Amino acid sequence: MPAGTRTCPCCSCATFGTGGAESRHASVVSYAFLALLSCGLGLLSTATMAADARRTTFGTLSNGTSVEAAELSNATGIKVRIMTLGASIQSLLAPDRRGHIADIVLGFDSAQEYLQDNHYFGGTVGRFANRISKGRFTLDSHSFVLATNDHGNHLHGGKVGFNKVLWILRSVKSGAPAIATFSYVSPDGEEGYPGTLRVTATFSLDDKNTLQVEYTASTDRPTIVNISSHNYFQLGAGVAGASAMDDTLQILASRYTPVDAQLIPTGELRSVSGTPFDFLQPTAVGQRVRDGNDLQLRFGRGYDHNFALDGAGTALREAARIYSPGTGRILEILTAAPGLQFYSGNFLDSTTAGKQGALYREGDALVFEPQLFPDAPNKANFRSARLDPGRIYRNTIVYRFSTDNPVNFRQDANPREPTN
Ligand code: BGC
Repeated sequence: MPAGTRTCPCCSCATFGTGGAESRHASVVSYAFLALLSCGLGLLSTATMAADARRTTFGTLSNGTSVEAAELSNATGIKVRIMTLGASIQSLLAPDRRGHIADIVLGFDSAQEYLQDNHYFGGTVGRFANRISKGRFTLDSHSFVLATNDHGNHLHGGKVGFNKVLWILRSVKSGAPAIATFSYVSPDGEEGYPGTLRVTATFSLDDKNTLQVEYTASTDRPTIVNISSHNYFQLGAGVAGASAMDDTLQILASRYTPVDAQLIPTGELRSVSGTPFDFLQPTAVGQRVRDGNDLQLRFGRGYDHNFALDGAGTALREAARIYSPGTGRILEILTAAPGLQFYSGNFLDSTTAGKQGALYREGDALVFEPQLFPDAPNKANFRSARLDPGRIYRNTIVYRFSTDNPVNFRQDANPREPTN
């Protein structure tokens, strides 16, 4: 809702307070008809409200390759730029509680810097997001050896994962919602994976501040797939000194998958109860992140763990809610995936200068990756990552943005408290 706009007391339409509608409502009897008409028109325009999509160029790589981008924006001030390099979210503008707009994701100002990056800023991660122990797995009694890029393990698709390849920007369409679709064909054997994998990444933004990212994939040979989006959210952006450690986080998971010293899950599903991993109630991230008595936090240097989401099935459901007290921004994440990797940016060590030369440090941002469980191909008790020919892999991630001040932020309703 634009600044100064208020909700109509009679029907909650968003036009009240603009263009004189407020004064018409003040004279209840004589202007009732006009008021109703105004509300009706408001509803009509809400129903047809569209978000805007445009195709643009983000930049050029040092080898001369042009990197295209799609920009989706709505009237609230949400604007997301997704580039063909890695089908990556390069920037995401969102208003705070005062209506001030800032970029709430970490990343770089130029495409070339993303090629050198090893933090996966904003990238689409795959074919297999997260780790596969020693880069090995067996499918139908065939052993496969993947590229290893993380202490002898396979991480986020290997040496050249989906975040480092050029995708094709297939279509860009304004509407309700605005949609941009990217595609990539991963050849048989790429990074060691079997099968030609045809992947699409569809980004859509509506006027209610919902950004949806949907990955689909199909294969011509049995293979494994687990694709996710690796955004570093900095909900405190725009306020000097704001730390993501102050963000309160709620994750609707009663269990998580503990890891070994190399961050490979042991296979256990452990209750979060009585541990620093209990985020069932909103808790500041920084409150327990330095608890050195917890071996899991020591292994991860903080949070770098997969949470087993409650009620995991195939339907989209609320997984996490993050709130920045400094800016009032709220992010809700919905997914149908069984797992949510929560990474508190522990490896940001001031050696990377990102957008506008900012040195990125631990505590600057939080990463949430809805996904299958890490190392699923080697863990019989984890949901299978197998994809067969004729089947469609799908991972749908919904990011819902709002603030604690509805006056400066048009939204359908106040953000719902997640329920278990
Ligand atoms: C992983 C971290 C890793 C990071 C790379 C996260 O998804 O869980 O362990 O260091 O990606 O930036």
